[in-house]
Amino acid sequence: MVDDNTVLVTGGAGFIGAHLALGFKEHHPGVRVVALDNLKRRGSELNLARLADGGVEFVHGDVRVPGDLPPLKNLALIIECSAEPSVLAGYGEAPGYVIDSNLNGAIHCLELARTTGAAMIFLSTSRVYPIKRLRNIALQETETRLEVLPDQSQPGITTDGIDETFPLDGARSLYGATKYAAELFISEYAAMYELRAIVNRCGVVAGPWQMGRVDQGIMALWVSRHLFRGALSYIGFGGRGKQVRDMLHVQDLLELILLQAARMDTLQGMTFNAGGGVGNSISLLELTQLCRQATGIDIPISSNPEDRPADIPYYVTNNALLQSNCDWSPRRNLEVIADDTARWITDNRRVLEKILG
Ligand SMILES: NC(=O)c1ccc[n+]([C@@H]2O[C@H](COP(=O)([O-])OP(=O)(O)OC[C@H]3O[C@@H](n4cnc5c(N)ncnc54)[C@H](O)[C@@H]3O)[C@@H](O)[C@H]2O)c1
Repeated sequence: MVDDNTVLVTGGAGFIGAHLALGFKEHHPGVRVVALDNLKRRGSELNLARLADGGVEFVHGDVRVPGDLPPLKNLALIIECSAEPSVLAGYGEAPGYVIDSNLNGAIHCLELARTTGAAMIFLSTSRVYPIKRLRNIALQETETRLEVLPDQSQPGITTDGIDETFPLDGARSLYGATKYAAELFISEYAAMYELRAIVNRCGVVAGPWQMGRVDQGIMALWVSRHLFRGALSYIGFGGRGKQVRDMLHVQDLLELILLQAARMDTLQGMTFNAGGGVGNSISLLELTQLCRQATGIDIPISSNPEDRPADIPYYVTNNALLQSNCDWSPRRNLEVIADDTARWITDNRRVLEKILG
């Protein structure tokens, strides 16, 4: 990235997009960074002042509308972070928004890349892996969590987590399907138009400025419900809170994206699983314990044994491919993620109570 280049971050007022836009500007002050967002996510408007303070230009626009994607001078990189990011999107409702935004929106970004010669870093998801396949991972139950058994019948899953060879056949939710379809278009654009692109299939990303909801942003949800003494429930898999995810601090993700942007020529065409990994894996029961430590508050948690659609008992990222190609590993542990999230909510309590409370 050289001075006078422009970086466009779509979904740039969202949790990840705003963090990446601000981080890019901080690390490359001579680069023009533009954040585009339609402000659909409640709370994303709170990031506008932060973006302005950090020297990031904001464009109110919608990736579903090709004309909203600005014709930027010297556009070198598009970081596609816009999305309807809920795995529950489309269940019991019309699928229009998630398809139009996540798939057509991504294709409009690809068109911008094709016509300008810009490279792309695409924020995909672990949810490209099919639900049935993930539910078929052989697990054993310990006192506080589910753990992967050493013997598995499927490729791509070991006690180190899920790698990129995990099977891709089967239904995966509209969220996962739109992201996977966008990945397929990226590889077609790479083959047909020599698009330079990197795909990151992220597990759970967490940290300050995440507007956590019941269906997305579990760390912010759990910490905020503790701080605001709200209601929480262990949902699904018997209601015992033993389902497991790994968590990646958003600052670790920024460090990865900065590295990838700098090495686009060698990494282009690659697809990576990117997450906190086994060392940053946690069950809901354990998360409650962590939140009690981070907030000093103990709240009752109810139990609902019914599985929600698209729910999976276990997802932990195997970062080996990233580690060997990018020389990167997550540096911030779960305590840091919880403490940073709790501090952010406490410092912004008045305004966040309306959104997270
Ligand atoms: N946070 C995670 O744990 C996680 C995990 C895996 C993948 N991802 C992916 O990372 C990206 C960023 O997620 P996030 O957690 O920051 O979510 P977010 O909801 O905070 O950010 C997404 C942003 O996109 C905006 N947006 C939605 N529809 C739009 C449209 N049609 N046009 C323009 N902007 C639009 C929203 O207003 C929001 O600000 C998404 O692509 C998501 O799928 C996130």
